[in-house]
Amino acid sequence: MFRVMATATANTSTKPKKKFSKTEIKETLLTPRFYTTDFDEMEQLFNTEINKNLNQAEFEALLNEFKTDYNQTHFVRNPEFKEAADKMQGPLREIFVEFLERSCTAEFSGFLLYKELGRRLKKTNPVVAEIFSLMSRDEARHAGFLNKGLSDFNLALDLGFLTKARKYTFFKPKFIFYATYLSEKIGYWRYITIFRHLKENPQYQVYPIFKYFENWCQDENRHGDFFSALLKAQPQFLNDWKAKLWSRFFCLSVYVTMYLNDCQRTDFYEGIGLNTKEFDMHVIIETNRTTARIFPAVLDVENPEFKRKLDRMVEINEQIMAVSQSDNIPLVKNLKKIPLIAALVSEIIAAYLMPPIESGSVDFAEFEPQLVY
Ligand SMILES: [Fe+2]
Ligand SMILES: [Fe+2]
Repeated sequence: MFRVMATATANTSTKPKKKFSKTEIKETLLTPRFYTTDFDEMEQLFNTEINKNLNQAEFEALLNEFKTDYNQTHFVRNPEFKEAADKMQGPLREIFVEFLERSCTAEFSGFLLYKELGRRLKKTNPVVAEIFSLMSRDEARHAGFLNKGLSDFNLALDLGFLTKARKYTFFKPKFIFYATYLSEKIGYWRYITIFRHLKENPQYQVYPIFKYFENWCQDENRHGDFFSALLKAQPQFLNDWKAKLWSRFFCLSVYVTMYLNDCQRTDFYEGIGLNTKEFDMHVIIETNRTTARIFPAVLDVENPEFKRKLDRMVEINEQIMAVSQSDNIPLVKNLKKIPLIAALVSEIIAAYLMPPIESGSVDFAEFEPQLVY
């Protein structure tokens, strides 16, 4: 999974349509995004002659892991899918379709970025390039499996069209590393948490796709580990005060985006027997603990004040959405939104400024001894 991030504000969900057409693509800050980056800079970063920190032996070991292709035969469908989809009716069906669409878009976004990186790095660093290509294989599989799920609901995402029609967000390589590392790890924690919950509470197993999450999330975990290795090979992205500030910024963006998104879709989580906020907090805490192994600073998400701030953001976001959906003329709506957006931003800044947790990788410190805080 390649979850995506943004800082805030409302997203209005649309009713599922047969296929996306140009007018139907809604770009909001909370919808899954497509990314592009500075590929020339990427080439420099992975040039073994320029960068002596590149541990080729570690990348070769990772490449062998990816070549093993543990999930080659995992994503096989059966008649249960269609039967389960037919049984799902009313609001749950609608929210389920949205879940499949958003997940498919997010997976596909990862596929596009990794495929391009695989292509662009081929000459400079064939090992790293091949890993990217094999990760794009995984993401294509994930996106394809979700898209087949949509066919159970008589729908399909036109991925070729999405590739051309969606806007791409540009991120410098350094930010791609932070964002994708977090996306992969948060994806892992979301999938495994849902899987474990449904294993314990099979009465909520409304659609068989969740049964695949256990092996699926291992792909995401491996992707995250690869980005962890990439970050270690670029110590300049981890060892100064700017890195600490950016690490906290990306953690906050990813956590807030997920929390606001999921709190708009509580029907989905309740539909599979989860408490949305508890689920999200569990995922945030676990992701943050994992991330603390590599990022030089993370947020103190286990401080109850952090959750209180997230909950206030949800309340403000709901007010913003209520204004958007009101019958006022656009000017009045915008005027009403100004203080709310200001309140949301100040809540986000306050969360950012909470005392952080100094963190970082132990094994990283071994070969980079100046990394002592
Ligand atoms: Fe994925
Ligand atoms: Fe992934």
